[in-house]
Amino acid sequence: MDRRGIVLAGGSGSRLFPMTAAVSKQLLPIYDKPMIYYSLSTLFLSDIREILIISTPRDLPLFRELLGDGSTFGVRLEYAVQDRPNGLAEAFLIGEQFLGGAPSALVLGDNVFYGEGFSDHLINAGSRKAGATIFSYPVQNPRDFGVVTFDQTGHATTIEEKPQKPRSSSAVVGLYFYDERAPQFARELRPSARGELEITDLNRCYLDLRDLFVEQLGRGFAWLDTGTCASMLDATNFVATLQRRQGLRIACLEEIAFRKGWITKAQLMVSADRCGNSEYGAYLRELPLFA
Ligand code: TTP
Repeated sequence: MDRRGIVLAGGSGSRLFPMTAAVSKQLLPIYDKPMIYYSLSTLFLSDIREILIISTPRDLPLFRELLGDGSTFGVRLEYAVQDRPNGLAEAFLIGEQFLGGAPSALVLGDNVFYGEGFSDHLINAGSRKAGATIFSYPVQNPRDFGVVTFDQTGHATTIEEKPQKPRSSSAVVGLYFYDERAPQFARELRPSARGELEITDLNRCYLDLRDLFVEQLGRGFAWLDTGTCASMLDATNFVATLQRRQGLRIACLEEIAFRKGWITKAQLMVSADRCGNSEYGAYLRELPLFA
């Protein structure tokens, strides 16, 4: 079965209040497009074309309005509600039926990835039939993240959530690939002290079976999460700088779909028209000249 994707785009976004008082964090812009575009682009680049978007009862209709059934991008999108932010691992209880026994990839709706070779990392993770793959990234403040250690064969050896004394500076980023057992393991989890079904506990199920692999994203790579005002501004500046320099857009979903042959030139032009006279629309209109 083909791997299916889940975007977790709920949460309370409390660190962004009052911006998130009436609207989901993942609908706010990172420079020229909604935040969720960046997460979706990660799944698209993994060649995943069946995707479940999970959000709050309040926000789900807006995601539907933004993205529809996915046909604009040559993918299939479904939607499901998470009533309360009960933790990342709950995605596999909510998404069990959608997954229907397929392997999966979960991406958080507020994570931005950018760097040469990213697609290779994604294909590596996607081609692993059994077990789970997480991605590590060196950070200055590992205490604020899940922290992983691993051996030379890429097997994880320890994983801890926000440790007081981190054993490494390798943070676990918001992107996880699992085999078909994830919902089954998720059902056995119990809420942590902070009342959430922890993704770290799900990862530990795989670790205990020596089935947890780590793909290392190195120092030449950018991983940004966009949960605070400062990190949103950093990400916006990062995207703006690269896009202005290269004339290429980061996380342009229609572009990825077009280059992969998932949509035709005619479909691309319909999207371009929908974007009116925005710079994004102009970019879509010119794409076939360069692709
Ligand atoms: P967080 O940044 O941990 O939480 P949050 O988005 O609610 O923000 P804040 O801490 O400011 O209140 O969440 C990381 C991502 O996962 C984000 O995209 C929201 C999403 N999420 C859910 O969809 N459901 C959940 O139960 C949790 C905990 C997070």
